[in-house]
Amino acid sequence: MEKILSVNQLSSGYGELPVLHNIDLHVNRGEIVSVVGANGAGKSTLLLTLSGHLMAQSGQVQFDNHDITRLPAHDCPERGLVMVPEGGRLFPFMTVLENLELGSYISKARTDIKNRLEEVMGLFPILKDRQQQLAGRLSGGERQMCAIARAMMSKPKLLMLDEPSLGLAPIMVDKVFVMVKQMVESQNLSVLLVEQNVGNALQMSERGYILEHGHLLKTGKSSDLLNDSDIQRSYMGL
Ligand SMILES: Nc1ncnc2c1ncn2[C@@H]1O[C@H](COP(=O)(O)OP(=O)(O)O)[C@@H](O)[C@H]1O
Ligand SMILES: [Mg+2]
Repeated sequence: MEKILSVNQLSSGYGELPVLHNIDLHVNRGEIVSVVGANGAGKSTLLLTLSGHLMAQSGQVQFDNHDITRLPAHDCPERGLVMVPEGGRLFPFMTVLENLELGSYISKARTDIKNRLEEVMGLFPILKDRQQQLAGRLSGGERQMCAIARAMMSKPKLLMLDEPSLGLAPIMVDKVFVMVKQMVESQNLSVLLVEQNVGNALQMSERGYILEHGHLLKTGKSSDLLNDSDIQRSYMGL
């Protein structure tokens, strides 16, 4: 299987402070992969490093057959690598439509923004109904969908999602995850999902990695990890 993302021995942190230690992981094309772990494990640090917001201390990141280890954040979307940060970070005083339009600021996507808007709203019909509403007035689930839709405007090859289930009611979590799965099937997309919500994340992904205190502890097929009694005990309260 061809890899869209390949991370080798990546270490990263804040200034001198190390957070991630020698991380090895990959995402195949068309695959949904989850990285799960407790609060403070280093999940956001991982996505910030992969998306160029934090500089790696050592190691390599290959994306779509190029070394992007030192690629700055503003160049990542153009290559097809887009992150949805924790909480979505929409502009609350702009409408849903204006937020979506901002997602297509990269030159490649700007040319057919109208078509892309139609396509993305087709994926998220609720946003079509709410397009003139201020983003700050959306419910938590709608806000998360809007943030994902905004990221989809630039036609990413790999979408990285930072805790999309955070703060959502269980029924909304299911809805958001079903949408993400549908997108992957219809859009030539791969997804790297980081989550504290271990059960849901493993259920929706094909493979998973367990991150503990900045180290990858275990990896495997998500179905195997879900049946692993250590993981059930530590992360799923079973
Ligand atoms: N801006 C920062 N400066 C210094 N340390 C940070 C910063 N952000 C996060 N950390 C530390 O890095 C570790 C991992 O945090 P984070 O990646 O946010 O974990 P997670 O997303 O898994 O909850 C934590 O110990 C946290 O305190
Ligand atoms: Mg986080």
